Amino acid sequence: MNVHTGALAEAHLPDEQTIAFAREATRDLAQHPKRMSPKYFYDAAGSELFEAITRLPEYYPTRTELSILTEYGSEIAAIIPRHAALVEFGAGATTKVRLLLRRCDFSAYVPVDISTDFLNMQAEGLRKDFPALAVHPVGADFTAPFALPAAVSNMPKVGFFPGSTIGNFDPLEARTLLLSAREILGKDAQMIIGVDLEKDERVLYDAYNDSAGITARFNLNVLVRMNRELGSNFDLSAFSHRAIYNREQHRIEMHLISKKRQTVRMLGTSFSFRPGESIHTENSYKYSLERFSALARGAGWGVKKSWTDQAKMFSVHALQALD
Ligand code: AVI
Repeated sequence: MNVHTGALAEAHLPDEQTIAFAREATRDLAQHPKRMSPKYFYDAAGSELFEAITRLPEYYPTRTELSILTEYGSEIAAIIPRHAALVEFGAGATTKVRLLLRRCDFSAYVPVDISTDFLNMQAEGLRKDFPALAVHPVGADFTAPFALPAAVSNMPKVGFFPGSTIGNFDPLEARTLLLSAREILGKDAQMIIGVDLEKDERVLYDAYNDSAGITARFNLNVLVRMNRELGSNFDLSAFSHRAIYNREQHRIEMHLISKKRQTVRMLGTSFSFRPGESIHTENSYKYSLERFSALARGAGWGVKKSWTDQAKMFSVHALQALD
């Protein structure tokens, strides 16, 4: 795409966020192999599909993490300081944070998310149910440095990063994210983080290839979103969902596979696809306890305590910022 066409196409886009999406999408679809960032899954429809995924019988992470937080809630409460500020990196359903808030004695809750409408809605619900808790939502991209509200500056800080969202970043990005969290939370901070574990490949495969086809719809939704927001003409029936386990890289990979030779137009640019060609849409890294501990240590965090379910499907760690 030459600069002139690009600027012209962008002139029709409604806001900065959509312009950033357009720039990333046109850049990433011109790569070999083609790719898309998983952050674009989460428009309103994508977020609903993800909530549906968390309830699928094959998708074990959410319910397993919840069972760990429930079973070991009092051990977690015993480790973290009283009257601390709980800073959640990303804000989804509040089920997990409610569990921590009920068990531990936090004075403030700081959910951080780019989607401010959703954030404020969740904050309202929490204020109602936890009247003694000061709730300070921060509208920011948690993968970049952001400032904490002044109101929590004198409180001890505890980060919360559940759901194995860390697994959607490659190990270098994950290290950068943990380094940045340590910087933001400051000296003596702690962090509660959920991390998915390596396991039987069949179980992993099924979790990302559910029989109801919800994960496929979640994956394809990124094309729906590009058609709506960027005016592309992806034919949904000409792409299929593929999720595979890459053993060498310890990750599930999600792809959208072109079923035929085809050309897609978006913002004045043509993108051609060979039959079988992929858009790589997501990685979901799976860790051993040792590999996660090494990652955390390399980013300035020591593992204070780890909990897993009995079958060792999922893990929750209490991290302590190292000096
Ligand atoms: C949000 N994230 C941790 C999920 C995962 O398992 O990697 C996203 C997801 N992708 C497909 N199913 C769920």
